[in-house]
Amino acid sequence: MSTGIPTGNGFGAANGFNGANGFSADGLRTLLSRGAVPADPQELSRGANAGTQQGSAWLPDVAMLARIAEEVLAEPPAPGPTGPPAPGPVVVPGFDDDTLPHVPLPPVVTPEMMGPTPGPPGAMADAPTFYFITEHPQAALLAATPPGGPGPFDVETIRGDFPILTERVHGRQLAYLDNAATTHKPQEVIDRLAYFYARENSNVHRGAHALAERATEAYEDARSVVADFLGAPSPDNVVFTRGTTESINLVAQSWGRDNLAAGDEIVLTQLEHHANIVPWQLIAEQTGAVLKVIPVDDTGQLQLDDYAALLTDRTKLVAVSQVSNVLGTIVPVEAVIQAAHRAGARVLVDGAQAVAHMPVDVKAMDADFYAFSGHKVFGPTGIGALYAKPEVLEQMAPWQGGGNMISDVTFERTRYQRPPARFEAGTGNIADAVGLAAALRYLRRLGVLAAAAYEHSVLDYAASAMKQVPGLTMIGTAPDKASVLSFVLDGYEPEEVGSALDSKGIAVRSGHHCAQPVVRRFGHEAVVRPSLAMYNTCAEVDRLVAELHRLSAARGR
Ligand code: ALA
Repeated sequence: MSTGIPTGNGFGAANGFNGANGFSADGLRTLLSRGAVPADPQELSRGANAGTQQGSAWLPDVAMLARIAEEVLAEPPAPGPTGPPAPGPVVVPGFDDDTLPHVPLPPVVTPEMMGPTPGPPGAMADAPTFYFITEHPQAALLAATPPGGPGPFDVETIRGDFPILTERVHGRQLAYLDNAATTHKPQEVIDRLAYFYARENSNVHRGAHALAERATEAYEDARSVVADFLGAPSPDNVVFTRGTTESINLVAQSWGRDNLAAGDEIVLTQLEHHANIVPWQLIAEQTGAVLKVIPVDDTGQLQLDDYAALLTDRTKLVAVSQVSNVLGTIVPVEAVIQAAHRAGARVLVDGAQAVAHMPVDVKAMDADFYAFSGHKVFGPTGIGALYAKPEVLEQMAPWQGGGNMISDVTFERTRYQRPPARFEAGTGNIADAVGLAAALRYLRRLGVLAAAAYEHSVLDYAASAMKQVPGLTMIGTAPDKASVLSFVLDGYEPEEVGSALDSKGIAVRSGHHCAQPVVRRFGHEAVVRPSLAMYNTCAEVDRLVAELHRLSAARGR
């Protein structure tokens, strides 16, 4: 795991290069003119790589970096200072360099620009410490800001990175509180996708040409970034998938097929998303395995005593969410994993609702499998990953056949590639993998812990305020929670509340949230679910709560 590109090599923010928010062609040009970075793109790339190997809190996108250097060197310097961003409803900083017409580059935001801004009530300065921060094995590393890094968490600056947050809906400023469904994308992810298609697009691991090499390099770099983000020992432990659902189906159909027999037990929890229930039902039908379910208490906390009683020598797999998408409960996955391992079972952790809200370290938690989706962590849709322990992945058979996953094919038999290629049949979602890497770099640069602590302060603020609304019942009140604020309101169907909020520009999800068993556990078929990301503010929460008070009063509460 890395700790920072050394400033001494000229890549530091102090030199205007990485700053808090990426790099710019102007920044690079300045450095080149000062001789602060090597003029040879290959050497530049090697220098950045050396930084990566020495460890960096954010990893440079070396291939893109080197190509921009090449491009900048080939062009005359831009005349005079660059102009202000184009006026319009969406002001996107960074589109101010007309010398690079093909590639809108991410903006540079220096630490000075990030400057200290008073946070909302309860933010940062007053924020309590959270167990997942203080006890996290990588707390010191993850807490460290990059050299010259962003400093205090400044939500207004961060909101400026997300163009969609300035949208107006139904004539109102959007307040997007549906982050458990999907998160928005910072401009640099959008730019990275455009850059890939404009400059790198090709198939990977196949062509004998420069673009194929660029695409392969970008794709494999993305795998390294994902491995680094998860704390995986090697990129070879990371399989790209369409998302959490496909990752879990992969494990069920590959590992499950070979390791489950009639009477074997799969232990799930009552708070699982359908994606961590149905794949196990399918493989149980195919193998004769049986499902057992750990209950939750009235707050939504896992009943660990019941869990201990469910484990037997027939338990082969425990599949558990790290964070519930309906209740927000943070499950103590380390304890769950330790108990499962003592019983000789493997553990799959569904990290879909965790990755954007807390640091993850698959090695420290000792997960056998970890699944997540890119779109839940500020990346594109249609891309996600499965981490598996090397010794487990090596033993797993392919679950889909096709190109790229084979080493040799005859009509009599086929030999397969080693992991991860063995599990990536066909052309994958290359561009979105590269976009995912940009999102993870972005989050790492902000600081996962700083983002989590800020977001948690907004969560606490919202929970306190919502409890004051007459007739409102919170669903999911476990002491350790992340992001999610589900509720029902007397006198209203959840869909009515969702529509009323939408009419005021406030986006939430209403329904069963693809987790019917846990919604029914609390006596409902549907609930209203506001859910936060690190770009939400207490002002947005105030709008939500004011509207809920208005709805409540309209029913005479
Ligand atoms: N799993 C996503 C949600 O909880 C779609 O809304």
